[in-house]
Amino acid sequence: MKTVLKKHPLAIRWFHWVNFPILAIMIWSGILIYWAYAKYAISFGNLEIYHFFPRSFYTALNIPHRLAEGMSFHFAFMWLFFGNGLLYVLYTIFSGEWRYLLPNKHSFKEAWQVLLHDLHIRKYAPPQLKYNAAQRIAYTAIIVMGLGSIITGLAIYKSAEFGWCTWLCGGYASARLIHFILTIGYCLFFVIHIVQVVITGWNNFQAMVTGIEIVKPAKLPVQTEPILEPLPETPQPAIHEEA
Ligand code: HEM
Repeated sequence: MKTVLKKHPLAIRWFHWVNFPILAIMIWSGILIYWAYAKYAISFGNLEIYHFFPRSFYTALNIPHRLAEGMSFHFAFMWLFFGNGLLYVLYTIFSGEWRYLLPNKHSFKEAWQVLLHDLHIRKYAPPQLKYNAAQRIAYTAIIVMGLGSIITGLAIYKSAEFGWCTWLCGGYASARLIHFILTIGYCLFFVIHIVQVVITGWNNFQAMVTGIEIVKPAKLPVQTEPILEPLPETPQPAIHEEA
């Protein structure tokens, strides 16, 4: 007997897949702009370990001298990034999906247990609903990062009109630095996210496309320690059984 799990509402899937190309365009056009004043590096004192980015990187991606093009794309797509992100957050709040997404008071301890389980050091993963504790922390962090990109972006885009954003970021220079670090953060998140999606497998991935996950009862939702007490504030996703 197979079990059909209604996993991701249509709205969440739309927001998720629309965000992917928009964010990719924001990062690509951001690099076209950054090239014009590529000031960041990882250094210890006078010793520069890595400069963002090496000349070979720019040449390979045909980035030099495309500042104006980068600005046009960046300032057009930022509205879509903002609009899609805002609608996603509003939907998550009003639909109650936030219950599956936000970390709770156990999440930081459980995220560690998830990591140990993933590394095959711990036999059981802690009990979870739609997302495990590590996912809750990561997905919530990415939403906060999105807000951070908008505030730091406004701070460097119109530092006079949005003076409060510049002030909130500690000035123009730190706003630009935070904006850059957040972008590196998206790239790191993306790599880890894709590795996790590949490890978890096709069934989990296709659920983000179709909305439903078909699982064998033994695997529902992952092998976890038995839940001894019901979790009243976090209702289970709808489950329908098929022959
Ligand atoms: C090829 C690119 C991507 C693939 C294949 C992918 C795949 C997935 C899958 C399969 C899930 C569901 C995970 C689960 O049910 O356990 C998910 C959720 C999520 N992904 Fe992605 N993703 C991609 C790009 C991105 C990007 C670029 C971001 C943002 C920077 C992102 C942010 C999220 C978030 C926040 C969720 C949770 C959504 C919610 O339920 O509200 N993803 N992704």
